[in-house]
Amino acid sequence: MSQEKDNFSPESLMMSFGHDPALVRNSIKNPIFQTSTFEFATAEEGKAFFEKVYGPGSIDEKNDSLIYTRLNHPNLMTAEKRLALLDGVEDAAFFESGMAAISTTLLEFAHSGDLILMSSPLYGGTDSFIKNILPRYGVEHVIFDPEMTKEEIIELVTSHPKGDSLSIIYCETPANPTNSLTDIEMMSQIKTHFSQDKKVVLAVDNTYMGPIFQKPSEHGADLTIYSATKYIGGHSDLIAGACSGSSELMLRLKGLRSKLGCMASPWTSWLISRSFETLHLRMEKHASNASKVADFLLTHPKVENVRYVGHLKEGDRYYDIYKRQCTAGGAMLAFDVIGGEKEAFTFLNHLSLIKLAVSLGSTETLASHPDTMSSSNVPVEDRLKVGITPAMIRMSVGIESPDDLIKDISHALNQI
Ligand SMILES: Cc1ncc(COP(=O)(O)O)c(C=O)c1O
Repeated sequence: MSQEKDNFSPESLMMSFGHDPALVRNSIKNPIFQTSTFEFATAEEGKAFFEKVYGPGSIDEKNDSLIYTRLNHPNLMTAEKRLALLDGVEDAAFFESGMAAISTTLLEFAHSGDLILMSSPLYGGTDSFIKNILPRYGVEHVIFDPEMTKEEIIELVTSHPKGDSLSIIYCETPANPTNSLTDIEMMSQIKTHFSQDKKVVLAVDNTYMGPIFQKPSEHGADLTIYSATKYIGGHSDLIAGACSGSSELMLRLKGLRSKLGCMASPWTSWLISRSFETLHLRMEKHASNASKVADFLLTHPKVENVRYVGHLKEGDRYYDIYKRQCTAGGAMLAFDVIGGEKEAFTFLNHLSLIKLAVSLGSTETLASHPDTMSSSNVPVEDRLKVGITPAMIRMSVGIESPDDLIKDISHALNQI
């Protein structure tokens, strides 16, 4: 398998990597291992497997030691190997939701008395977990603005009473729903600044770009996080999450995952492994459709503030970061209709091909209203600060015919 890994691109390997047909009667595809437990050949082998899973040793050795599906199972291993390969890191962990990946990561790497430095905005669920749940466990947070300089962010942390207990830098880039970008390399330098006495972990939510258009580990991120419900799953038919990084960090994360019991199931993992086969293909079509839809919106008289990463040009605030970090503009758009909530709702209620639903990264185009839906649990003053207005529409562009999408959008805008 390692010879394959060295010779071919991840794109070509997504069809087979992490699955050995010889182990399953030469089946070209990995069957679903719908089992809760695995039989040991001998008691001695059972003992040895437990020692491997709970003791020191390489992750590959551990992966061979199948014990119990909450700890590990073959479908999970396949999905994790594929994501690690795409992200260019040693290992990955899949969870039964993006929020399970995020909450397990935050609980593993921040402890009572610690401080989290977070970007803004964050997905509403993450924002709420950091602001409302973690304080119960003695974890505080401080928020930086994407426009702040490195020196300003360092000063922000240093002047906080818990500044010397920074444990996690948590960023979402592009951010949901505003498409603002965070400079991962700069955050990695800030991490180094605060890492003298204690290791600080830099975690990046890469849901918007997926493992195809952005690789945070190449820019200094320790952990790359996904709602795999989105592009990785990609068909609006599963809920899953993931985190990738070094073997050392993944070992810790998988340890807590086993205790919390939030690993991805055999069925979810199987669907994920299958979705990896077409991820590249889908992402390219998503991105080319999004660019056409964004161009249409840009000149429409009933639309303003079109936020689309692929539109960034020289001189724009985020252009340099975009050029360094992303290989395409992705497929997430946000824009304001002229007016407010009433006009936004009129637009949404008149779409027909495009589905009015939250979530993103699926084959069908989805449109929603962040202010009253996915970001509604973010405090209203924080929403307004980052431009989440009652007139804002978020659109996840799918893989339909771009002409049909534009026809549908045009019709709905004309009803305002
Ligand atoms: C950027 C981002 N991160 C994390 C999540 C949470 O993922 P899940 O819904 O799979 O738990 C979402 C969900 O919309 C998201 O948009």
